[in-house]
Order: sequence, then structure tokens, then C-alpha cells
Amino acid sequence: MRVPFLDLRAAYHELKPELDAASRRVMESGWYILGEEIEAFEREFARYCGAKHCVAVGNGLDALILILRGHGIGSGDEVVVPANTYIASWLAVSYVGATLLPVEPNPETGNIDPDKIEGALTPRTKAIMAVHLYGQPAEMHRIAALGRRHGLRVLEDAAQAHGASFQDRHSGNLGDGAGFSFYPTKNLGAKGDAGALVTNSEEIAARLKELRNYGTRSRYEHVEVGFNSRLDEVQAAILSVRLDRLQRFNMRRQEIARKYFKEIGNSRVGLLSKPITPDHHVYHLFVIHCPERDRLADFLRKEGIETLVHYPIPAHHQKCCQQLRQDPHGLSNAESHARQCLSIPCHPQLGDDDVARVIAAINQFS
Ligand SMILES: Cc1ncc(COP(=O)(O)O)c(C=O)c1O
Repeated sequence: MRVPFLDLRAAYHELKPELDAASRRVMESGWYILGEEIEAFEREFARYCGAKHCVAVGNGLDALILILRGHGIGSGDEVVVPANTYIASWLAVSYVGATLLPVEPNPETGNIDPDKIEGALTPRTKAIMAVHLYGQPAEMHRIAALGRRHGLRVLEDAAQAHGASFQDRHSGNLGDGAGFSFYPTKNLGAKGDAGALVTNSEEIAARLKELRNYGTRSRYEHVEVGFNSRLDEVQAAILSVRLDRLQRFNMRRQEIARKYFKEIGNSRVGLLSKPITPDHHVYHLFVIHCPERDRLADFLRKEGIETLVHYPIPAHHQKCCQQLRQDPHGLSNAESHARQCLSIPCHPQLGDDDVARVIAAINQFS
């Protein structure tokens, strides 16, 4: 019996009647792009985040690009990004023409280390893009204070943190604007590509609604060089169904994480994902650390347990990023994290027996 890293088929079957009804409703409506389903989802998701506006777009990368554009960030500007993140956080900054200022992770969390941000700033720095990696909010009180002190925008890449909260506020409402991904594997996942940005600014939301649709203000009137990043109605209808369950699914992830913390006890393995405050972390990924990571992954595979590495090559060593920053050295925390991290199964469809098997296998590793 194998323990899958994720089981998207089981996730579909758990909500099948409602998901099927939602997509049939759209089929029958005869309206497939930017319609009532999108408007309803945008309202619901903004409310869920505690923010005023949500603009649904084609994917998470577009959401990040648009929120940067909404804040006027572009060529000649610099943006602080975590060295340890998915490539999209970096690519969004490079797509708007800004320069990346990568900052090392805190080894305890994998998230950007606020102590290292100030040293990276220059007079051209305009924003900090905080990433709530693995489902744990970045230390937003400290990052927001830095932003205020230096006159910087604080943006959130919340692609892995739907429903995560920090000091009683949900991700999406922890800075000046946020981008989300609803890629199928995410805590709030669609059945295809999807994303959204969230903002409290009416002006930015209105402009980004135009930009996602060819810069269109009224039919065939194009006021800016926009692009096509419209979400379709089927995905919006599916996301509304799944949004209703997000809290419950996140709670199951937290329950599994608590078990891992309590019962994994192997001196060769460190648990990275300990929340800095209880239950604010929504465990998009449960990440462990092991100096012999590849041997551990191989051992777990032989025990039938699937694992993944997030991420094996740090962004500054990716071929596509070679031109994006001048100094590819000096990010040793990000590099050692990439060598040692391993994500173990942690998703709402994981049964208690599976969790017990993962724990037993890790504890047996010698
Ligand atoms: C941290 C992070 N940022 C951005 C993205 C981009 O999202 P998408 O794949 O929907 O473009 C992802 C996910 O894929 C992500 O994990």
C-alpha cells in the first residue's frame, strides 16, 4: 500500500456531487468567461481574506505580475524577494522589469529572514515581496515595520497560504496587496490553472480588472497595454465550492502536522515547519530536514511513501535566472536548505493509518 504525496482524485470524489453540479451549471448557462460565477467568487474570496477587493486571473504568476504593476513597480525599481521560494516569485519581479534583491531564509522556517532584509536595501528598492512559503506566514509584523521605515510597499505571495493567518488577519490582508495561485495542488485548488490578487485599493482593483482583459474599459475600448489573464467560469464555480471547505481542510492539515510534531522522533531528522505561533500555518507542505535527504527519500520510497523536494535548485542557481542578478553567490542558507529539505505527505485526504505509516517509517530510518 502506497502513501501518496497528494491524492487529487480522492479530493475530487469527496466533493463530486457539488463540483459536478457547479460545472454543469456553468455549461448550461452558456456564459463561460468573466461572468456571474467570477463575480461571486471574487466577493467571497475577498471577504474570506478580510480584504476589500479580489480580481480573479488566469494563474498565480499573473496575479503576482499584476499586483506589482498595480503598485507601479517596473524598470529601474528593485524588489526584495526570498532566496528560498518557488521560481514564480522571482519571475513575476523580472517580468515587470524590476531587479531582484534575494534575501536568505530563516533556517527555522524556510521563510525570508527579516533580520537580513535591511542590509539588502538600496535607494532604488520599492517593495518587499514576502512569500508565505509552505503555508506559514512570513514574519509580517517585522516586514511591515521595515516597509514603513523605508517607505516600501509590502506585497504577499500567498500562493501557498490560503487561510493562513497572522495576528488574527488572513493572508491576502497582511500587506499592500497579495497574489494567490489556485493551481490544483494548492490548499484552495481549482481543476486547472487559476489565480487571484487581493487588495484593499479600489483604484488598483479597477485598473487590474482592465489589465487582465486586454486593458479593456468598455467593449473594444483599450486604455492600457493589458494582456489576457481571464479566469473562466467553470474554475470560479469550482473554487466557490472548495472555498466553503477550506477551513475544514486546513484544520485536517494542522491535525496531521500536530501528530508529526508529537510523534516523529529521529535524531537524524529535523522538523522545519514548526509554526511560530500555533495553527497559523496551514501546512500546504510539511517539510522536514535531513543531511542525508536523498537516502531518506529513497528509504521512504521503498516503504511506499511518496515525498517531494521543494525546491531542489535554489532560484539563483536556475539557468533562467542567471541574468537576473549580478551576484549568484552568498546565499548559503538557501543552498543548504535546498540540499536538506524533504516534503512528506500532508493533505486532507490522508487517513490516520497513512499518517502513522509515515511516522513509523521516518522513525525507523537509521
Ligand atoms: C510560492 C508560489 N508563488 C507563485 C506560484 C505561481 O502560481 P501558478 O503556478 O498558479 O502560476 C506558485 C505555485 O505554483 C507558488 O508556489
